Amino acid sequence: MTAEDASVLAAKLSAFPRLGLASLPTPLEPMKRLTAHLGGPRLWVKREDATGLGFGGNKLRKLDYVLHEAVASGADALVSGGVVQSNSQRQVAAAAAKLGLACHLAVYHGRLAPPAPEYETSGNALLNRLFGAHLHDVPWTGDRNAAIEELGNRLRREGRRPYFVPYGVSSPLGAVAYASTIAEIAEQSRALGIRPAAIVHCTGSAGTQAGLVVGGAVAMPGTRIVGIDIDAEPERVRSDVIAYARAAADLIGTSFDEDDVEVVAGHAGPAYGVPHAATIEAIRLAGALEALPLDPVYSGKGLAGLIALVRQGRWPGDTDVIFIHTGGAPALFAYQSVLGI
Ligand SMILES: Cc1ncc(COP(=O)(O)O)c(C=O)c1O
Repeated sequence: MTAEDASVLAAKLSAFPRLGLASLPTPLEPMKRLTAHLGGPRLWVKREDATGLGFGGNKLRKLDYVLHEAVASGADALVSGGVVQSNSQRQVAAAAAKLGLACHLAVYHGRLAPPAPEYETSGNALLNRLFGAHLHDVPWTGDRNAAIEELGNRLRREGRRPYFVPYGVSSPLGAVAYASTIAEIAEQSRALGIRPAAIVHCTGSAGTQAGLVVGGAVAMPGTRIVGIDIDAEPERVRSDVIAYARAAADLIGTSFDEDDVEVVAGHAGPAYGVPHAATIEAIRLAGALEALPLDPVYSGKGLAGLIALVRQGRWPGDTDVIFIHTGGAPALFAYQSVLGI
């Protein structure tokens, strides 16, 4: 990792226009108390929860690039979707409010049974309403994008000009956008004088990891990207990461090694959206030791995976490992009664 590698990546990404919706760069901070508690490598956190708009999160970085296309196309509405407590649709709703666009969301019911009475109304569900989104309840069929496309077609028939934002904002352009996280981490690591052994994060609809893999191949070739599966579908996640990463690499004119795509299974708990004891332990540790609000669906499970890998001795004590806090804290309030906090 050299200054040159980071600037090569930054130059490649500068060809893609952004709206400036996200507050970037996000901080890279030490987690000294969690490091001391676990007794393993030096742990750092990249604060992607601090991207700003509408409580922030990793999707905002993707939306910054993807919605440039929406605005340029003359769209008058964004159409997207996700489960009731989707952080992705909350960030789409926030961006739409800021841009003065209508927002229509397909809200999937049935991917998981509501884990707490407050699940349907609090957290992200409340924020979606606050940001003025129109919510359309639909059954979960397993097809992440079909109901969003149907909703978009309906709006088009009604004379609107909707722009389709895929589930999780995962697309080739979304992955290109997320490679910009690596440009920041490379620069921040250089300034701190560290050479991270790994970057660990939770992975679901795969665009985040695809961007990290592609960006990493250009600017941080010595750093392993480790995705923690939170969907309980590690094979599906890995093949989606590879597909988005291939498309993103083509867009920015680079390549990566598929053997470098690592998706770690075993930390998703009983099912997507259902926190288990290790998730709750990770949330409690991050809160009590680092004042970091993690969530029960994504970042809590991501940190649970990292803690398990540290306890297995994966990295020596004199190495540096970065955890990406991808956001999601509003969901804490929608799960309050099952977390026992
Ligand atoms: C808080 C949070 N972290 C991580 C992810 C996973 O990112 P991706 O879907 O790009 O794999 C999501 C996606 O919904 C999320 O909301």
